[in-house]
Amino acid sequence: MARPKIALIGAGNIGGTLAHLAALKELGDVVLFDIADGLPQGKALDIAESGPSEGFDAAMSGTSDYADIAGADVCIVTAGVARKPGMSRDDLLGINLKVMKSVGEGIAEHAPNAFVICITNPLDAMVWALREFSGLPHNMVCGMAGVLDSARFRHFLAEEFDVSMRDVTAFVLGGHGDTMVPSVRYSTVAGIPLPDLIEMGWTTQDKLDAIVQRTRDGGAEIVGLLKTGSAYYAPATSAIEMAEAFLKDQKRVLPCAAYVDGAFGLNGMYVGVPTVIGAGGVERVVNIKLNKQEQEMFDTSVEAVKGLVDACKGIDSSLT
Ligand code: APR
Repeated sequence: MARPKIALIGAGNIGGTLAHLAALKELGDVVLFDIADGLPQGKALDIAESGPSEGFDAAMSGTSDYADIAGADVCIVTAGVARKPGMSRDDLLGINLKVMKSVGEGIAEHAPNAFVICITNPLDAMVWALREFSGLPHNMVCGMAGVLDSARFRHFLAEEFDVSMRDVTAFVLGGHGDTMVPSVRYSTVAGIPLPDLIEMGWTTQDKLDAIVQRTRDGGAEIVGLLKTGSAYYAPATSAIEMAEAFLKDQKRVLPCAAYVDGAFGLNGMYVGVPTVIGAGGVERVVNIKLNKQEQEMFDTSVEAVKGLVDACKGIDSSLT
């Protein structure tokens, strides 16, 4: 059987890391696409030349021609500009919306059957716009945010409790921005919910509040340290986890920016929710019950996402 084909639209920091990880995990043959002349070709060749030492079988190529992504099984989109210190994800909206138009049209023409994972920010609005421009089925287009935000939350919790992060489960709901909702009640250490761990004296409410806030600011913390760009190792790893769930029909329960129509009381919009990802793309939205406080935070986040989508509609009148 031929290897799956993975198209990476955008060959910058995240795109290059995605290609490297896909190769190391032998997920399939990789095509790196970018408008920057030589960048995708150079990164593809560099990674291919690591193959003999690493011992992976995966073809790597770089291109600036959408025809080369033809028949891709997975497209991961990072094309656009990244944040610099002082910028919010929302500041990227106008520039990256135009990029989503060209990427959406390219995917629609050459890889209409692909599972598409968008990473470009501001995430929830960009994945919505990408879906609109591409016209692909909603279940085949989603955004990577929840896996990353949850991984940050899990990392901070594992440090706080001094336990393996493998035993910490957590998830983050809502938009990928300042209003995201790290779920305390549904996050656990080996099945023990965080509120119980406070009662057990493992941590305090104040410490947990600080971890929740650090999770919300997780992207900005990295931008502040790097100064010339935004995070890329963890974002790439998170998207690869989602791509693998699709390619291997793993039916993983992963939070992502998915199209929600009916669940959570929403009428057709993209926002971060728990989902099941398998061969059918986003196969299910897991409609968990929120308590009053969680619902209020989720509603605030939903309103922030709606505001960004409205801003997109104001910029491009073809989006209605
Ligand atoms: N088509 C294809 N590629 C494009 C286009 C386009 N229209 N416009 C820009 N690019 C490419 C750039 O040439 C660059 O190589 O997108 C790449 C983006 O790479 P980086 O600037 O290194 O950004 P990165 O850190 O990879 O982040 C990409 O993901 O997390 C988000 O906020 C982040 O929106 C940003 C995106």
